[in-house]
Amino acid sequence: MPSDAHPQKPEKILVLGGTREAADLARELAAKGLDVTTSLAGRTKEPAPVEGKLRIGGFGGAEGLAGYLKAESFTRVIDATHPFAKTISANAVKACEIAALPLDIRTRAPWQKQPGDLWIEVATLEDAANAPPPNARVLLALGRQYLDAFLDRTDCHFVIRMVDPPESPLAFASHEILTAKPSTDPGEEAALFRSHAITHIVCRNSGGHGAFAKIVAARGMGLPVVMVGR
Ligand SMILES: NC(=O)c1ccc[n+]([C@@H]2O[C@H](COP(=O)([O-])OP(=O)(O)OC[C@H]3O[C@@H](n4cnc5c(N)ncnc54)[C@H](OP(=O)(O)O)[C@@H]3O)[C@@H](O)[C@H]2O)c1
Repeated sequence: MPSDAHPQKPEKILVLGGTREAADLARELAAKGLDVTTSLAGRTKEPAPVEGKLRIGGFGGAEGLAGYLKAESFTRVIDATHPFAKTISANAVKACEIAALPLDIRTRAPWQKQPGDLWIEVATLEDAANAPPPNARVLLALGRQYLDAFLDRTDCHFVIRMVDPPESPLAFASHEILTAKPSTDPGEEAALFRSHAITHIVCRNSGGHGAFAKIVAARGMGLPVVMVGR
């Protein structure tokens, strides 16, 4: 059969993003000259620029995503979302089934505990909130939407690291806000822990490199990490 009888559709890739890995992937694919669009939920006010095209906002569930994939003639979807973003990942599976498109799942593997780690492994945010002892000075390395579970711990001081400042004041009895992304340098993370006299870290087991420096720093300083599992 002549090759132009069924010309192959040019590849058009949708990266479900919101992570450093997704941004790296978009850069790699765009550098290869591929048609790549990154999709963000729109949670961050000023998202970092991405290579290729960018679209922002929900699709309206799995069916909405399937409709978008068909309407825009995508040929492939890559799920590079955060491992705790479960809904969009489930929607991607369903949407790719509906649209009969290949789905490449590139969500991060969880971190594994290593010798020297003092992890207090918990399954829920409520268990995480109960873990630090009274008078602990806790770094909360969690998104805004996960903080409420800690409000009742009026006996602890919280240092809350957030990418964007909160829209309304937080109702913690004792807290301070660090508007910053996590450093990728364990030395910088350790210096931050020292300067705030941190005794405990609370985070989720997100995996990946971007937020791993705090785990390395905590290991080096012998600080307990309350690790919320997936
Ligand atoms: N969860 C985290 O801890 C975390 C941490 C860092 C970054 N992120 C990033 O932030 C985004 C939202 O996280 P989440 O936990 O709120 O997600 P989620 O609970 O899985 O998704 C909730 C809804 O947000 C929309 N959505 C999520 N990711 C989207 C994307 N990449 N593009 C377009 N719409 C998206 C979808 O709306 P519709 O149903 O309307 O399509 C989805 O049903 C994700 O893209 C994730 O990669 C999340």
